[in-house]
Amino acid sequence: MDAQLIAYLTDWLNLLLRFLHVVTAIAWIGASFYFVWLDNSLEEPPKWKQDKGIKGDLWSIHGGGFYEIAKYRLAPESMPKHLHWFKWEAYSTWITGALLLTLLYYVGANSYLIDPSKADLTQWQAIAIGVGTLVGGFAIYEAAVRSPLVNNGRLFGGVMLALITLIAWGLSQLVGDRAAYIHVGALIGTCMAGNVLLGIMPAQRGLVDAVKRGVEPDPKPALMAKLRSTHNNYATLPVLFIMLSNHYPMTYGHQYGWLILGAMALIGAWARHFFNLRHQGIIRPWVLISAFIAFCVLVVIVRPAPIQRTAVERGGLSDQQVVKLVQARCTACHSATPSDDVFTVAPSGVVFDSAEQIRRMMDRIEARAVLTHDMPFMNKTGMTDEERALLGDWIAQQRSKNAG
Ligand code: HEC
Repeated sequence: MDAQLIAYLTDWLNLLLRFLHVVTAIAWIGASFYFVWLDNSLEEPPKWKQDKGIKGDLWSIHGGGFYEIAKYRLAPESMPKHLHWFKWEAYSTWITGALLLTLLYYVGANSYLIDPSKADLTQWQAIAIGVGTLVGGFAIYEAAVRSPLVNNGRLFGGVMLALITLIAWGLSQLVGDRAAYIHVGALIGTCMAGNVLLGIMPAQRGLVDAVKRGVEPDPKPALMAKLRSTHNNYATLPVLFIMLSNHYPMTYGHQYGWLILGAMALIGAWARHFFNLRHQGIIRPWVLISAFIAFCVLVVIVRPAPIQRTAVERGGLSDQQVVKLVQARCTACHSATPSDDVFTVAPSGVVFDSAEQIRRMMDRIEARAVLTHDMPFMNKTGMTDEERALLGDWIAQQRSKNAG
């Protein structure tokens, strides 16, 4: 098979895996949101239900029908014929995520994982760093969950947040910025799937087993399972942010991208807290409002410094010079006829073959090659800071021309 065909088929495989990953993640997080809401919204049941061992009662209407939900204090007297478990959402999200990570960042390590300006790693070294982070981070989380630390929710959350931020910093020293972010997201996702596999499922199997044998179930594993499930719930918004962050170079591409990740994770978990309280009837609008204010403060703090427009006074670059610069640094990929070995079709359909095409995309060019150093991709074409400044000047010139 020739290289172009392989690249073409790889793109479709990428699409398929990403699609499955998003669909399974929606199912998983949807179920997680639903059950946390359900648990927090249960009401005291009438006496006849309490006598049957039901501790919580809930009525809802959805899709044109009434639902009556009952939660047992521990377990029903006898096992129902069909019991739904909700585990494959978690497992399939993890499996599709692991496959996507492997395809993009490990098979494609040279384009997506290794950033020679940070560390000149071989493919296997880079993969070892990625996989090592996932395995090591997961082991630390599992040890922490089994330690007394877990009994202090706030402290536990704080320590985990600090760890995540530290790992993001470490990775950002060694691999590409996007890869660093995605690996932190994958690590949190791995811990979440691990919570299902190692904590929640065994507890549930124990419960079912006790009911079958007609003995009183041990409440301890069930409480642990509830705790792990709560961890997962607080991790959902941070993980979603990290997974979407790859579209936003002002986050991962920032000089302090690792700190931004930590701050966004805190804001996400805090926002989630508002909803968890609300389900219990505790309305604290300030939790959500303060999360939003923190978000706005972050936006202001991490704003890139304005660029020195020195060349404008000197006349700046002509259109031909800009086309030439862009040809040297960008059109290896962004052209109707790319010459890059990996990106054989113009990425995102973005093409810079003429001054007109460059002008049309100048806002995005500024965002990705002037204000951040996110493009050229991994700076594969070796663009210099001087060239970025010149490009920025030209864009500023075009704007003042348009305004005047
Ligand atoms: C080695 C290949 C490569 C080179 C060279 C490259 N890019 Fe990209 N570019 C990509 C890839 C891959 C994407 C799609 C993924 C993404 O959006 O990050 C992309 C997407 C883009 C986008 C569209 C996404 C958006 O934010 O709207 C812009 C704009 C862009 N690049 C600008 C540039 C500029 C400007 C240069 C030259 C200074 C450049 N690129 C050089 C690979 C490259």
